[in-house]
Amino acid sequence: MLSRIGHVCRCAAGVNPFLGILASRQKHTLPDLPYDYGALEPHISAEIMQLHHNKHHATYVNNLNATEEKYQEALAKRDVTTQVALQAALRFNGGGHVNHSIFWTNLSPNGGGEPQGDLMEAIKQDFGLIPLLGIDVWEHAYYLQYKNVRPDYVKAIWNIINWENVSERFLAAKKSN
Ligand SMILES: [Fe+2]
Repeated sequence: MLSRIGHVCRCAAGVNPFLGILASRQKHTLPDLPYDYGALEPHISAEIMQLHHNKHHATYVNNLNATEEKYQEALAKRDVTTQVALQAALRFNGGGHVNHSIFWTNLSPNGGGEPQGDLMEAIKQDFGLIPLLGIDVWEHAYYLQYKNVRPDYVKAIWNIINWENVSERFLAAKKSN
């Protein structure tokens, strides 16, 4: 699950994965990380990053592609029952793909500290209303290193939050409003 500033989201995604997914027949691909697997140590180990990205995120991408293929077949056959049955898998895997893609860019080996400027002001005023930062708190994100002590992981991750990325998302959201 991903928790966002201000609230914990137990759903697979805060976005609608159908937009862009059904409109395009292009295969989704696993994005490269913008840093090495070991770059976030000691806060997140290379082993976790490799498994999380190359296994967990990759599985969302593969399952999303497979589900979309089935959905296209169901569309071609006008098989509405199958289309409806596939929606949960589309939402789950589409959400997993989108949220992990955001999560990787929310982290940086040069992260930490505090947000600056407009973002800081907006967080103070409007805390909880802007989904700009996601923290993955599923067990696969921390268990190998932090075991059952999730609070230690959640504390450590603030040392690698990429506030520049969050600021970019904030400015883009502000522009579109
Ligand atoms: Fe994850």
